[in-house]
Amino acid sequence: MSQTETHSAHELFPTIHADLAEIEGRLRRTVHSRLPVVPEVYLHTVHAGGKRVRPALTLLCGRLVGDAGEATFDAAVAVELIHLASLIHDDVIDDSGRRRARLTANRVWGNKNAVLVADFTHAVAYRLLTQRCAIETVERLSGTVVRMCEGELCQMYNEGSFEVTEPLYFEMIADKTASLMALAGEFGALTAGGTREQAAACHAYGEKVGLAFQVVDDLLDLTGDEERIGKPVGNDVRCGRLTLPLIHALNQPAELADPVRRIIVEQPTTSEAMHALRDALAASGSLAYTAATAQRLANEAAVQLADFAPGEARSALEALAAYVVARTL
Ligand code: IPE
Ligand code: IPE
Ligand code: MG
Ligand code: MG
Repeated sequence: MSQTETHSAHELFPTIHADLAEIEGRLRRTVHSRLPVVPEVYLHTVHAGGKRVRPALTLLCGRLVGDAGEATFDAAVAVELIHLASLIHDDVIDDSGRRRARLTANRVWGNKNAVLVADFTHAVAYRLLTQRCAIETVERLSGTVVRMCEGELCQMYNEGSFEVTEPLYFEMIADKTASLMALAGEFGALTAGGTREQAAACHAYGEKVGLAFQVVDDLLDLTGDEERIGKPVGNDVRCGRLTLPLIHALNQPAELADPVRRIIVEQPTTSEAMHALRDALAASGSLAYTAATAQRLANEAAVQLADFAPGEARSALEALAAYVVARTL
């Protein structure tokens, strides 16, 4: 996938184009060390792009409530740093070889360097928040990282299990993914002088967007185009993770559930097997159910914006909720 095909927040949200360009520059400048491996691993991941959805959320929620200034920029960068570090860790955990259409840090530099540079990046994110943001943001971030780790751990302990229910699935994705998106929104409001109620609404908006985002990510893991998404397809099912389409299918009558169960047990490693899985999930209505669920969550996100004045920021946040459902990468 070429860089020009990447749908980053830059292209999607012209309202904050200049602000996102500023974030990009800050991301490049923020992590440095006397040890060359640190910027090497870090910049490898930063330069690979990524959609920058989380900083866009912070900037737009900042604009929604007031003046997005230096503290909002710091918070937006901190959130993306945590995201970036979590991706590097996630690829070590999954032993994944591709991310953002590049080799992963673990493939190029090995697990030890990848883990340590991601830890380093975490520390930089916290330090950044201590400079111009209220101390409360540090406390909120640490609570969020705790949830992200719990989500990944819970997912890991349920690998290979056929007992994962829809409520458990939602609990895991709320922790591992939606918690950081919720914080990204909340940080925008907190750093731009919003009220408690506004911060809570931005948190709720980000949470729903984050849930929809992960539901779609899990759908793309089954139906996506590897070239477009820039990471492997079928990783979840090969790791024995029951995501929403699979949970739905396994709860259908035997004639629909059994073919899906068979493919999961055999672990689809070929594109033919993935094709057969997609057909079985289409036949059971599970792909449609999952897409409809993501749409419902995005609608619920948009509802959280109802009390804010209409304007550019609110329209862009409504568009962001629609985008997470429509995205194909
Ligand atoms: C990937 O997040 C991890 C998930 C939460 C699904 P993104 O899809 O936002 O990753 P980048 O930043 O665009 O690479
Ligand atoms: C999101 O889950 C991982 C994090 C929150 C770090 P996934 O495991 O689905 O993310 P991808 O698919 O590897 O990007
Ligand atoms: Mg992963
Ligand atoms: Mg995924």
